[in-house]
Amino acid sequence: MNLFFYIVLLTLDQTLGNRNCENASFKNSEIETLAINFTMPYQLGVDPNTNTLFFSYSLQNSEESFKIVYLDLNNQKRGEVTGISGGFAQTVDVKNHVVYLGGSDGIYQFNYETKSANRLNITKNSIWQMFFKDYLYYTISLKEEAYVYKDGVAAKVKQLENTRASLIAVDNNHNIYFANSSGLYVSDNDNSIKHIGDYIINGFTSDINGNIFFSTLDKIYSIISGTSVKQIIELNDIHGLAIDAKGNYIYSTYNTVKRLKLDVTNCS
Ligand SMILES: *[C@@H]1O[C@H](CO)[C@@H](O)[C@H](O)[C@H]1NC(C)=O
Ligand SMILES: *[C@@H]1O[C@H](CO)[C@@H](O)[C@H](O)[C@H]1NC(C)=O
Ligand SMILES: *[C@@H]1O[C@H](CO)[C@@H](O)[C@H](O)[C@H]1NC(C)=O
Ligand SMILES: *[C@@H]1O[C@H](CO)[C@@H](O)[C@H](O)[C@H]1NC(C)=O
Repeated sequence: MNLFFYIVLLTLDQTLGNRNCENASFKNSEIETLAINFTMPYQLGVDPNTNTLFFSYSLQNSEESFKIVYLDLNNQKRGEVTGISGGFAQTVDVKNHVVYLGGSDGIYQFNYETKSANRLNITKNSIWQMFFKDYLYYTISLKEEAYVYKDGVAAKVKQLENTRASLIAVDNNHNIYFANSSGLYVSDNDNSIKHIGDYIINGFTSDINGNIFFSTLDKIYSIISGTSVKQIIELNDIHGLAIDAKGNYIYSTYNTVKRLKLDVTNCS
């Protein structure tokens, strides 16, 4: 498997566009395995303040269906987050340093001291995905409705009131990207919904500069602006995506979590 990845990487010589290090290359990059034997690691998120990765995985033969794992990328220490019912989603308010975790009965806040989650009084719904950009955006499992929690009040995202949305992301220009089973869409500044493409998206994420990225089963893309999408890399079997503070891609496969360590020797 790893050999396959290296061959794919060696045939690529791409540079990353709108990144901190514009000349980072995939040519001499490595793939590092961060976690193995977790069934279907799905939603991934990185807290760049502490360089901690959060990801959810499926439990088999148990009453609870999902759990969230924290993994300190500095020392590889990891554990399960306690105190949350069916943990599935994660996002970080970097400025105020709040790690939000989504469960089957609402939204929680992660406590680094106790490694447990405290439930917040935001919603009772089961959370599918979350994205923080100035405010906390989230989608509801099964219903595929998008909400935003703003100034202590949770309400449906106005622009998406009449559409299904299972995944949501917001860029620096306040464009709202969303995905449902029909593909990828954007609600831009004139509040009209535009179709970007028929991508079957399994994860949205952003880097520390607020650039939006997404993954499908075999590719990672970035959104340049509006409806313009750029393919970054082709990999095998991607289930979720996050970006660490250094701009490396962290992605999951059917039972592992891996990091694509970029070659930054050409960066100034
Ligand atoms: C992963 O699971 C396989 C099969 O059960 C086992 O052989 C292997 O030792 C496990 N690896 C780790 C790192 O737990
Ligand atoms: C939780 O939020 C609801 C709606 O905003 C409010 O009516 C209720 O008093 C809050 N409960 C607590 C314990 O703060
Ligand atoms: C996905 O969203 C688009 C845009 O709002 C909408 O036209 C389409 O019907 C939605 N797909 C589903 C399956 O609801
Ligand atoms: C990236 O490479 C180009 C072409 O070699 C060079 O002009 C540019 O200064 C480099 N940028 C950085 C940030 O090193």
